[in-house]
Amino acid sequence: MSSTAKGGAKPTVTITLDGSNRSATLPLLAGSIGPQTVDIRKLYGELGIFTYDPGYGATASCESKITYIDGDAGILLYRGYPIEQLAEKSDFIEVAYLLLEGELPNAAQLEDFRKNVTYHTMLHEQIRRFFDGFRRDAHPMAIICGVVGALAAFYHDNLDINDARQREVAAFRLIAKIPTIAAWAYKYSIGQPFMYPRNDLNYAENFLYMLNAVPAEPWKNNPILSRAMDRILVLHADHEQNASTSTVRLAGSTGANPFACIAAGIAALWGPSHGGANEAVLKMLGEIGTPENIPQFIREVKDKNSHTKLMGFGHRVYKNFDPRAKIMKETCHEVLAELGIKDEPLLDMAMEMERIALEDDYFVSRKLYPNVDFYSGIILKAMGIPTSMFTVLFAVARTVGWVSQWKELIEDPSQRIGRPRQIYSGATRRDYVPVSGR
Ligand code: ACO
Repeated sequence: MSSTAKGGAKPTVTITLDGSNRSATLPLLAGSIGPQTVDIRKLYGELGIFTYDPGYGATASCESKITYIDGDAGILLYRGYPIEQLAEKSDFIEVAYLLLEGELPNAAQLEDFRKNVTYHTMLHEQIRRFFDGFRRDAHPMAIICGVVGALAAFYHDNLDINDARQREVAAFRLIAKIPTIAAWAYKYSIGQPFMYPRNDLNYAENFLYMLNAVPAEPWKNNPILSRAMDRILVLHADHEQNASTSTVRLAGSTGANPFACIAAGIAALWGPSHGGANEAVLKMLGEIGTPENIPQFIREVKDKNSHTKLMGFGHRVYKNFDPRAKIMKETCHEVLAELGIKDEPLLDMAMEMERIALEDDYFVSRKLYPNVDFYSGIILKAMGIPTSMFTVLFAVARTVGWVSQWKELIEDPSQRIGRPRQIYSGATRRDYVPVSGR
């Protein structure tokens, strides 16, 4: 394979099949930042060969203007803005606008957007009944996956995804209703009455209200905790073409209903290698028990036969500190201080684990650093949010990313149904043998 770009000509890559005189010259594409990318669309037509990249480590599945990650440098940008600046200076609703629309809103646009999202926070009363169909011990991710999918039944017949206004309303509905669905999934599991959304509160406050308030008592907002929740939402809002977002895009590429596409994203997020990791981190810390057991646990992680992973460590793209993990660690300290928690054994354990891992050649040589999930669980636990809700919170935040990516997909004139190929390694053609002859 060779690459050329002479005298202002567009750069290309030429692939030559060894042992033959056949070759294909393919365009080399460049984004605004990031690595150059070989456009292989004509490869099969010209050489009759596929490319192989299980896990898509070197494959760009689409062109996107939403989020940029430089995994080696530990950089995350939403629409060009560094995550650190957005986490400090912005809030979730403004970030949601930015992700969806591409620019930061002016005051009037922001106000309008806030109103539109707020307007849609209630669920159709009929949706309440869906919750009753679940067992009380159902995992809330199973509930939100089912209920978000069920929204398709409420907004299907009148939804034309090719109409920009209808896409916009679907986006408002999803972003506005997901906290209500998530909070009700929790309330259902603990047998408390559902709290209806309060439109006088901001997004994070309203979510905390629906999770924690009860009709019998007045509810008081704690600004430090709602700010921490808002920051967690900002940090999780989008992360380019990760597993759940790619799932949403793949489902969306068929023209499927957006509520069904987001339900597919929720299902993909649930896995412990993805959004389920924050829950797995706390489980892991609980099982290790005390700091003296950390070295033994680390030995287990390093033993290939144990299949034990240090949850909250490692990332497909970040080969440096996950910038979100740094902010999360700071937020963790702020929240614990606000709550007057001086000694949190889980935090002590997490920090000791981080210290040991970052000095250990196994983790250093593989460039394994804490990811966003390493500290988020400790903050959420301190805020009184049960472990089973951690991934649900992630889904609440990521809904805006999924919706933005879905919208971008539908608006992309080059978008086609997603349909990967394969290396077939099964049986070659053979004739059917009746059961009596087998
Ligand atoms: N603990 C121990 N070893 C690890 C870990 C870990 N957490 N992560 C990766 N490794 C090792 C692998 O065993 C492999 O070692 P080898 O080269 O000796 O075979 C090497 O590091 C490379 O790892 P891969 O599995 O190839 O990395 P991949 O990019 O496929 O996986 C993933 C990334 C899934 C995130 C992985 O690091 C992991 O499972 N981490 C723990 C779960 C987790 O925290 N997930 C959250 C990710 S962030 C998010 O989704 C929000």
